[in-house]
Amino acid sequence: METMKLNNGIECPVIGIGTYMLQPADAERSVREALKMGYSLVDTANAYVNERAVGRGMRDSGVEREKIFLSTKLWPSEYENPGAVDETLERLGVDYVDLLYIHQPAGNWPAGYRQLEKAYREGKARSIGISNFEGKYIEELEGKLEIVPQFIQVEAHPYFTQKELRATLDKYGIRLMSWYPLGHGDKKLINEPIFATLGEKYGKTPAQIILRWHTQMGFAVIPGSRNVDHIRDNLDILDFRLTDTEMEMISALDEGRRYYNRTDAQLDSFAAWRPDFERA
Ligand SMILES: NC(=O)c1ccc[n+]([C@@H]2O[C@H](COP(=O)([O-])OP(=O)(O)OC[C@H]3O[C@@H](n4cnc5c(N)ncnc54)[C@H](OP(=O)(O)O)[C@@H]3O)[C@@H](O)[C@H]2O)c1
Repeated sequence: METMKLNNGIECPVIGIGTYMLQPADAERSVREALKMGYSLVDTANAYVNERAVGRGMRDSGVEREKIFLSTKLWPSEYENPGAVDETLERLGVDYVDLLYIHQPAGNWPAGYRQLEKAYREGKARSIGISNFEGKYIEELEGKLEIVPQFIQVEAHPYFTQKELRATLDKYGIRLMSWYPLGHGDKKLINEPIFATLGEKYGKTPAQIILRWHTQMGFAVIPGSRNVDHIRDNLDILDFRLTDTEMEMISALDEGRRYYNRTDAQLDSFAAWRPDFERA
C-alpha cells in the first residue's frame, strides 16, 4: 500500500473506503470486505450513524487494529459534549482513532477543535483534521491553533480541484483528503471522454483513472461503495502512473463546479441537528 507522510511524521494510506450514506448493514459489509482485500484506510463520521457497524466490519475482517488507519468525525452537536471523543471510541469499539476531524465549521467549532487537540495529546487520536473548513474558516482557525491539523477533508474531484485552498495547505503541510472523489457517482464526470481514453491506454476503468489522478495530486482518497467489484477496482490503482501531461489534461476539467454548495443557513441547521446514534 502506498502511504503519505503527515506533518507529524505518521503515515496514512493514500486510498481508503468511505462510508457516507451507507446503512449500517452495508457499511459493515463494505468495511469488512475492503479490509479483507487489502484496504487499510476507513472513513466514517458521527453523522453517518454507522460507527458501530464500521467497528463490527473492522473486527470481522480479521485485520489487526494496528494495521488499520481509522478516520472519523465529531458532529457539531458534540463539540461541547465533554464525553464526545470517548463516546465515539466506544461506538467504534476502539481505544484510539488514527484521524479525528471536526466535521463542519458550525456551532461552537473552536470548542470542537480543542477537543481534537486534547484527544491528540491523550493519544486517543493519532492525527487530527478539519472538514469543510475552506476559505474564511481555515483563516479563522489559523489564529486559534495550538496543534496544526494533519488533514483537511473537502470536496475535490476533476471538476473542482481546490486550487485556492491548496496554497494555504502547503504553508502548513496539511494534507487534503477528497470527498466526492468520483462526483458522488456522477455519470457526467465518470463518462468524460478523457477517462475512457486513458482507461484504454492503461487497462483501467474511468473510475480508476480518476482515483489515480487524486493520489498523484497528493490527495488521500476515500471512494464510497456498496459494490464489492467497485471496492476491489478502487484499490487497484497503484500499478500505473499518469504522465504529467495526462494529469494536466484531467485538471483542465476544473470548471469551479462543486456538487455541494453549502450555505450559512445550512451551517446553522447542522449545529441544531443531533445524530440519532446507533444504540447497539
Ligand atoms: N466530510 C464531509 O463532509 C464528507 C461529505 C461527503 C462524503 N465524505 C466522505 O467521502 C467519501 C466519498 O464520498 P461519496 O461516497 O459520497 O462519493 P464518491 O466516492 O464520489 O462516489 C460514490 C458513488 O460512486 C459509485 N462508485 C464507487 N466506486 C465506483 C466505481 N469503481 N465505478 C463506478 N462507480 C463507483 C458508488 O456506487 P456503488 O455503491 O454502486 O459502487 C457511489 O454511488 C464518503 O463515503 C465519506 O466517507 C465526507
